[in-house]
Amino acid sequence: SFEKVWLGAALLLIVGFIATVTYGTAGAGVKMVDDSGGEIDPEAVKSGDTGTGFDDPGVVRQNDSHYVVYVVAQQFQFVPGSGDNPIRIPADTRVTFRVTSADVMHGFSITETNINTMVIPGQVADITAKFDEPGTYGLVCHEYCGAGHHAMGGSVEVV
Ligand code: CUA
Repeated sequence: SFEKVWLGAALLLIVGFIATVTYGTAGAGVKMVDDSGGEIDPEAVKSGDTGTGFDDPGVVRQNDSHYVVYVVAQQFQFVPGSGDNPIRIPADTRVTFRVTSADVMHGFSITETNINTMVIPGQVADITAKFDEPGTYGLVCHEYCGAGHHAMGGSVEVV
């Protein structure tokens, strides 16, 4: 019947979208490399007592071809990322963004890419990407997190 045909077509479209999100390149010359996560105590994140890179968040060079960026999201800023503290990373290099929250749920999204994750207290979001094109990208909190949500953002400078 027609209905079955349309249902099948719709399902194919949905599968197609998921495949695009999972395997597609991130746009603007950004390639997703890996995706994983972990657990962490949000109270320890708040007090800077996790014994991890979150205690002094920022960009950490692992070697010439891999950098890790520890980012703490909190009402209403990214550290680093917001205000006069942009995230500065090299182009053409594997960069792992490791993001967690010190309080409530936030979002972590980099404009012109499909780097986009929820930031859930107690969890570490891990996104590895490679920026082929230098430039300044916007950083946006896309999960409602309170009165200052609309102003929670920042920038990523790829040099
Ligand atoms: Cu943080 Cu919305």
